[in-house]
Amino acid sequence: MFETGLSKTQIQTVALTSTAILLGAVWMARPSSFLFPLQQHEHHCRCFPGDDCWPSLEEWADFNKTIGGKLISTIPIASPCHDSFPGVDYDPDKCAQIRANWERPEFHIETTHSPMAALFANLSCDPFTPRDAQCIVGAYVPYVVNASDADDYRKTIAFVKERNIRLVIRNTGHDYMGKSTGAGALAIWTHNIKERSILDYTSAGYTGKAMKIGAGVLSSEAIEMAKAEGLVVVGGDCPSVGIAGGYTQGGGTSPLSTKFGLAADQVLEWEVVTGKGELLTATPTQNQDLYWALSGGGGGTYGAVLSMTVMLHRDGPTAGATLSFTEPSDKFWDMVKVFLMNLPAVLDAGASLYAWYLPGNTFLISQSYLLEGTSQDLQRLLQPTLKALDESGILYTWEGHDYPTFQDAFYTQNPKQDVAEINLGGRLIPRSLMKSNDSVDSLVDALKSIVDNGGMMATVCADTTHPPTFPNSAHPAWRETLFLVFLYTIYDRYNMTTNILNKQKVTNVLDPALVKLTPGGAVYLNEADNNHPDWPDAFYGPNYPKLAAIKKMYDPEDIFWGPTAVGREMWEIATDGRLCKVGP
Ligand SMILES: Cc1cc2nc3c(=O)[nH]c(=O)nc-3n(C[C@H](O)[C@H](O)[C@H](O)COP(=O)(O)OP(=O)(O)OC[C@H]3O[C@@H](n4cnc5c(N)ncnc54)[C@H](O)[C@@H]3O)c2cc1C
Ligand SMILES: *[C@@H]1O[C@H](CO)[C@@H](O)[C@H](O)[C@H]1NC(C)=O
Ligand SMILES: *[C@@H]1O[C@H](CO)[C@@H](O)[C@H](O)[C@H]1NC(C)=O
Ligand SMILES: *[C@@H]1O[C@H](CO)[C@@H](O)[C@H](O)[C@H]1NC(C)=O
Ligand SMILES: *[C@@H]1O[C@H](CO)[C@@H](O)[C@H](O)[C@H]1NC(C)=O
Ligand SMILES: *[C@@H]1O[C@H](CO)[C@@H](O)[C@H](O)[C@H]1NC(C)=O
Repeated sequence: MFETGLSKTQIQTVALTSTAILLGAVWMARPSSFLFPLQQHEHHCRCFPGDDCWPSLEEWADFNKTIGGKLISTIPIASPCHDSFPGVDYDPDKCAQIRANWERPEFHIETTHSPMAALFANLSCDPFTPRDAQCIVGAYVPYVVNASDADDYRKTIAFVKERNIRLVIRNTGHDYMGKSTGAGALAIWTHNIKERSILDYTSAGYTGKAMKIGAGVLSSEAIEMAKAEGLVVVGGDCPSVGIAGGYTQGGGTSPLSTKFGLAADQVLEWEVVTGKGELLTATPTQNQDLYWALSGGGGGTYGAVLSMTVMLHRDGPTAGATLSFTEPSDKFWDMVKVFLMNLPAVLDAGASLYAWYLPGNTFLISQSYLLEGTSQDLQRLLQPTLKALDESGILYTWEGHDYPTFQDAFYTQNPKQDVAEINLGGRLIPRSLMKSNDSVDSLVDALKSIVDNGGMMATVCADTTHPPTFPNSAHPAWRETLFLVFLYTIYDRYNMTTNILNKQKVTNVLDPALVKLTPGGAVYLNEADNNHPDWPDAFYGPNYPKLAAIKKMYDPEDIFWGPTAVGREMWEIATDGRLCKVGP
């Protein structure tokens, strides 16, 4: 997710040397209804490859003609690593390249089907399994439409409706919840919708520079366009996240969030094709309910977004600094306590930073940002922590820099982000925990227990508490959040049993340490445990009923569906991967 400054092998090494407690709980820790026996009644399910109702090759070809030849059938990304995919030969050189590139986001983004979170590919055609292991389309979407406009969206939606086929929206494939893939689904692939432009925007609530951004534009592409005009756009810490897709629709945290808020807080307009096939513009005053839902209520749920228009802000000199120390004894946690107690003041002064807690008691601020400030300012803001370190005799490294623009600070501190091969959990930590000495102590104890149990954490420390210019559906807990915990164990490329156990550990041991401190609290819907037992409350909070009602209005036939998305409870994935309606 974020660049640590440590190499992945270093992190893995620390992970391995720490005590790993693997619990023998069962895989069914996910909501018990998630997997269930194959539905006998096909009319309750979406048509699946092999079913009588699945379109014949001729019917796919006819559909292909109606969309100008933009239909692509899936050839799994790692098929050259195996013998068995029809029409693709085993090729050891190609396979070596696939393996070498596997951790590069761009490698997956350019494909029509590969999710970065390998778990959701269900080993269908994995580059790290033996040559004679299966290579099938399996959990990948079998077909995508290489979409370029609203017409492609509309025709695809009409086709899946008519043929009762599951629909998926795939943009970059970054999603951690498994929303951008799906067995037996036809996907709208938005990657090539690259239109973007800078506007002088005027509306009742906002007058100023704005950017209209097509569905397939990456965060980095929007950032670069803004930079050329001396402006900044609120984008992800990972430059290859799709800015108008799951990122902004799910809320969207940014190094710029302390200054300007969440990505969803920036939105002025959405252009969207609904489940009814209508192309609508949604703004704070027009189709207001749809605007509200799309701005923070989760991707792939209410409609297929064609573009969004967002506020831009003036760029400026930006300070950055990094800090790291390792201390095996419990003195480490005393330092963490000082840092945490100091954090509200750091954010209140306009800074944001990414702080890591790693096995072996390593603390790391990998990136920090202070717009219109200097590295001396940052050093002064973090002085209580630095002073405590000096007094304790713990060795640390502190490095401050002054950059001419935000983008210089961003790309220097954050040059390259890998696909995060992890089993994910997480939580929003409210500012209220800072109010008493006891609650800070219990937070430190929780972080310590997670690290001692082999968990790793990146925390996004940014002030998201300012109310947005226009009301939106980002979880209200964001307005009380001190930082987001992105909690994980390492994904094992070679042993799925280990992943299952490590995922259970996240669900049953690591996440609960934070849940205990924040009962009834929230997670970030894009960065949490997809098996979280408190779904949907933790993901959507009090917004859920209203979001569900809006979904019903714009997508009455549940064309859009995704694990952990609003409306998820109406449908289930059967053991063979097909999507079936719940209930009689
Ligand atoms: C390495 C890495 C770093 C990350 N860093 C950050 C970060 O700094 N801040 C942050 O907030 N998040 C971050 N994320 C999480 C990220 O926001 C989510 O993974 C998000 O879902 C990515 O959106 P996407 O459109 O690029 O991905 P996809 O996986 O392609 O899509 C994700 C979801 O959005 C839906 N969607 C995509 N496009 C559309 C559309 N046009 N219309 C409707 N629905 C659509 C899809 O249906 C799917 O449900 C990171 C993820 C990774 C893997
Ligand atoms: C769709 O049509 C185009 C153009 O004729 C062709 O190149 C492509 O292979 C077709 N797609 C499928 C899945 O057959
Ligand atoms: C998808 O369409 C774009 C044009 O929008 C084209 O440039 C690109 O080559 C197509 N991709 C594939 C894989 O067909
Ligand atoms: C706060 O907690 C620390 C232990 O972490 C303790 O030494 C200190 O006395 C406490 N302060 C107050 C005001 O309770
Ligand atoms: C996979 O991991 C499990 C649990 O960690 C272990 O028991 C098993 O031996 C491992 N399998 C292989 C092939 O290494
Ligand atoms: C995952 O793969 C297994 C083994 O190939 C298969 O039996 C199962 O149906 C797949 N699950 C899903 C949800 O696709």
